[in-house]
Amino acid sequence: MSKKYQIGWLPGDGVGVEVLEAAKLVLDKLDFNAEYVHGDIGWEFWCKEGDALPQRTIDLLNRVDAAMFGAITSKPMKQAEQELVTELRGKSLIYRSPIVRMRQLFDLYVCLRPCKGYPGNPLNFKENIDLVVFRENTEDLYAGVEFSPVPDELRETLTKLSKPFGAFKDLNGADYAVSCKVNTRKGSARIVRAAFEFAAKHGRKKVTVVHKANVVRAADGLFLEMAKEVAKDYPNIIFDEANVDAIMMWLLKNPFNYDVLVAPNLYGDIVSDLCAQLVGGLGFGCSGNIGDKLGVFEPTHGSAPKYSGMYKVNPIATILSAKQMLEWLGEIELANKVEAATAAVIKEGKVRTYDMGGSNTTLEMGKAIAEKLA
Ligand code: IPM
Ligand code: MG
Repeated sequence: MSKKYQIGWLPGDGVGVEVLEAAKLVLDKLDFNAEYVHGDIGWEFWCKEGDALPQRTIDLLNRVDAAMFGAITSKPMKQAEQELVTELRGKSLIYRSPIVRMRQLFDLYVCLRPCKGYPGNPLNFKENIDLVVFRENTEDLYAGVEFSPVPDELRETLTKLSKPFGAFKDLNGADYAVSCKVNTRKGSARIVRAAFEFAAKHGRKKVTVVHKANVVRAADGLFLEMAKEVAKDYPNIIFDEANVDAIMMWLLKNPFNYDVLVAPNLYGDIVSDLCAQLVGGLGFGCSGNIGDKLGVFEPTHGSAPKYSGMYKVNPIATILSAKQMLEWLGEIELANKVEAATAAVIKEGKVRTYDMGGSNTTLEMGKAIAEKLA
């Protein structure tokens, strides 16, 4: 008897629920021995309980082998909701994205975003694009070290320690905001190593480090320094580097010049959206948030409130995320089956969701892929 996996199942809000339902049609058709455990997450719990990622869901994620996550809505709150949350959470009314919290809480430091153009997809920018983005997932501008208003203490310290800060030193705390970009040696090295390890394992030829070290000298300088250090351990893989602005143009100009890309958190967020668009857009952007103990897999698109309840959006991003989950669990054969079935449905072109120019529903796409499983 094969191992029985415990899979956290976190649909969240809006179309998150729908795309996970479609992915389940595929998973259920596989010989994958798993128990799916529902976890509460999302806007509803922020409004009702003052916490979008309740402690019981954190406990659940501590128990499971891996998790699938849909999407979360965040929107301005109604007056009554505001009051309730203020009461529940005291003064802290800042909504922090639960997925960002989850990445940090569980140290899911690798955000792995493969962007592969499947033949026959009418949305491919060019045929045969096959890029893999490694995005640092816990620090950088996502560290959450932010001040608005800026406390006097911080202003005094910065006035003392930073010459350029002189330009801001006479502002009132409420008239500016500070978000800190925190990159560590450890955090930078481990994401770059993950990218090189992937390249070595999968016969990839080149790793491109994305940065802006010519301007953001401290934080990006350190990222680049660590990248160069780690690259020395992989003499057979080409080390390449590019400024984040320039690479946006070059990726459009010639995506085939690139292979594996690795970037600090925010640049990785941006680069991975561009790369997803090259292979079909939001409906095809899959991702894994991966740590040493847990992997949480999700489509990169949001909850798309305007499509909520319509079963209209493309579930392929989620199905390919499920494929990534199977791969991470070591179920390579099953992962390959899911990918082959997805590729076959895309190639055949009979079942297409609205983004692909068709009129099939989310679940029809899920079903078509499930039926193609060999
Ligand atoms: C992503 C998303 C998230 C991010 C949002 C929803 C917080 O854009 O996963 O790429 O910025 O990381
Ligand atoms: Mg994003």
